[in-house]
Amino acid sequence: MTFTYYKKEDIAAAAEQITAGNLIAFPTETVYGLGADATNPGAVKKVYQAKGRPSDNPLIVHVADKQTVLNFVEELTKPVIKLMNAFWPGPLTIILPIKKDSLESVVTGGLQTAAFRMPDNQATLALIKAAKTPMVGPSANTSGKPSPTTAAHVAHDLHTTIAGVLDDGPTGVGVESTVLDMSVEQPVILRPGAITPEAIEAVIGPVLMNQHQVTKKEIPKAPGMKYKHYAPNAQVIIVEKSEFNQAIKRYKSQAKCLGLLAQSAILKQYMQDPQIMTYSLGDTPENAAQNLFAGLRYFDDEQAVQIILAQAMPNQEIGAAYMNRLEKAAGNCYFSDKK
Ligand code: TXA
Ligand code: MG
Repeated sequence: MTFTYYKKEDIAAAAEQITAGNLIAFPTETVYGLGADATNPGAVKKVYQAKGRPSDNPLIVHVADKQTVLNFVEELTKPVIKLMNAFWPGPLTIILPIKKDSLESVVTGGLQTAAFRMPDNQATLALIKAAKTPMVGPSANTSGKPSPTTAAHVAHDLHTTIAGVLDDGPTGVGVESTVLDMSVEQPVILRPGAITPEAIEAVIGPVLMNQHQVTKKEIPKAPGMKYKHYAPNAQVIIVEKSEFNQAIKRYKSQAKCLGLLAQSAILKQYMQDPQIMTYSLGDTPENAAQNLFAGLRYFDDEQAVQIILAQAMPNQEIGAAYMNRLEKAAGNCYFSDKK
């Protein structure tokens, strides 16, 4: 299979691939997704194969308008409509109870609920409309690796297994959507993202945060939570801004080459050190979220890097989503834990 970079002018050709049951990666405001016709179980199966993704981890159904959700859901309740009006198109995924058999179990993982989202990307909304079908779309990376924020990241992981990518440049938010479970009495945030709990509460009232840690034996509420995520080849260690000096001293003796993933102000001091490679997170927590996955991937291409020291951000707003992904990449390993 030849891998094709589709541009905005090529949306009709990309849509033909989707309707033919093939896989096309698509841009969103968060990360690139791996698209397949959500109503074609054969096509959806290919998504799991291409990513090497465990098949009990359900997929998000991406729609180009709110109305399409009613193909799968009995009714949209008032709070759900409010959420859609407030945040769609945008980085909020909403879990809803579905009509029996309205989606194949290969999409839902056999659950009686499904995840819906309308991404804020004009090219992708046009692709869904041209294909005349909603698309499933997990992040377009090899399972377990950092999510892709550029078309080149997608090609790196999947160029031998999918038909191509609709290239719309680097994504804006950089971390995946907030996942909100509206299928339960008290709404629960299953995954933090750019849409904060405060923003959601301002629209529908109190929501819970899912703090529950899932072990391998349990059936997790968000099935994706039990799997290894975002992990580069090197060991990642989370370091507070004020502790970089100490951390570098400690780990220089343990690794041939250290990767520093931090804000420019920190990196400045270490640029000249031959034992250190740097990747800038930019200046703000928003920039850090945008750059996190690209940075982790950068160090994967630098074989020499054995340990990545990555900067912690304040655990609030977009920083909470950043820290959630970084903690997974690091397997929760903090420098301060190891004193
Ligand atoms: O920003 C995003 O959401 C990106 C872009 C491409 O849209 N997509 C994405 O998909 O992150 P994925 O498959 O990597 O993450 C979907 C998450 C998983 O953790 C999955 O377990 C959860 O949503 N999920 C899907 N359906 C669910 C359901 N019915 N109940 C609970 N969790 C569900
Ligand atoms: Mg993913």
